[in-house]
Amino acid sequence: MADPLRLGIAGLGTVGAGVVKIVRRKAKLIEARAGRPVTISAVSARTRDKDRGVSLSGYDWEDDPVALARRDDVDLLVELMGGSDGPAKAATEAALEAGKDVVTANKAMLALHGPDLARAAESRGRVLRFEAAVAGAIPVVKALTEGLAGNEIDRVLGVMNGTCNYILTRMESAGLSYETVFDEANQLGFLEADPTLDVGGIDAGHKLALLAAIAYGVRVPFDEVELEGIERVSIDDIRRARDLGFRIKLLGVARMTGRGLEARMSPCLVRADTPLGQLEGPTNMCVLEGDESGQIVLRGAGAGEGPTASAVMSDVIDIARGTRVSTFGVPADQLGTVSMARSATPAPYYLRMELMDKPGALARIATVLGEAGISIDRMRQYGHEADTAPVLIVTHRCARDALDRALAAMPETGVLATEPVALRIETV
Ligand code: HSE
Repeated sequence: MADPLRLGIAGLGTVGAGVVKIVRRKAKLIEARAGRPVTISAVSARTRDKDRGVSLSGYDWEDDPVALARRDDVDLLVELMGGSDGPAKAATEAALEAGKDVVTANKAMLALHGPDLARAAESRGRVLRFEAAVAGAIPVVKALTEGLAGNEIDRVLGVMNGTCNYILTRMESAGLSYETVFDEANQLGFLEADPTLDVGGIDAGHKLALLAAIAYGVRVPFDEVELEGIERVSIDDIRRARDLGFRIKLLGVARMTGRGLEARMSPCLVRADTPLGQLEGPTNMCVLEGDESGQIVLRGAGAGEGPTASAVMSDVIDIARGTRVSTFGVPADQLGTVSMARSATPAPYYLRMELMDKPGALARIATVLGEAGISIDRMRQYGHEADTAPVLIVTHRCARDALDRALAAMPETGVLATEPVALRIETV
């Protein structure tokens, strides 16, 4: 019988416990698929005495994840602690230095240090894999690195934070405010310990940066990824967008342009009758556009025990089989540098504003847009009783810079009652 692949699992939260359950319950299936047994030698977590819904008997315990990573009876470190630095990075580096492979679900660590860690792995002939770091169960890393390896990638899009999609779709279906649904999501346990990671677009931004690195073979400077969260999306915008045939999504978009890499995670309008527009609840969706393949749409659970552990096991079984793919699809020392292009691609925009209800108000706004070279596609004024008028404008495709110039000039018109809301309309 072939030698077993022996795991050391660092981190026994929801995902870690899920991995232990799969290894125990599906030992025969995994052995058949991997061509060798997959076993667990030792585990590590912050707290030892805790009911995790699975027996840890038969596994050695290590308080220190670095010691776990260095054990002679561990071939592969499964890093499920989280955090961009600290113990997760220390254990990953220790495992690679000791000549072991690493599988991780840690999007923050990879978005900030991925190329360096990948280089550390590859210089020693080891692999570092991260399917579980992006969109939970959806095999999008594999799809990009392997399934679409023969393509130039035109665009990568995704709804990759289930909490935000839950909040936005629940606001719409129940007619509730952002604050109310945020509290509801908190009670349901959907939010990260630091909720800004979810609602500020950071968690989803990490995932987008990782997919962009694979799609374009570059080091993506995470601090230059455009990030905007959903905190300012109002129920009014959700309703008005729906009236126009759109839905609002926290959407990640990456594409290589003549000016550099465009990578942004922001609330966008997408047509309601598209797969992205129809995505409900805490589900994720990744859309990959290859020059040969055309558009591929992947939909599934983006978080949770089974879905995320499923993605971890995909990497573990690949390594057990001997499949060795570079972390970002090309060797880490060949990843290019790239300049980042802020919203380089022109797009139509949705604008909502409250105007003073007086003669010429709308004309002044139209003039500001016209002077910035922005043409109006559609406009709608809603009935009202107060002395301000709600107005919606959909522009033709325009550059974000031009829109920013127009938005900066609007207060000088003296007809704005509120700050305008501007959201990009992404054509998918
Ligand atoms: N908090 C994330 C989400 C899951 O809501 O999708 C982990 O990245």
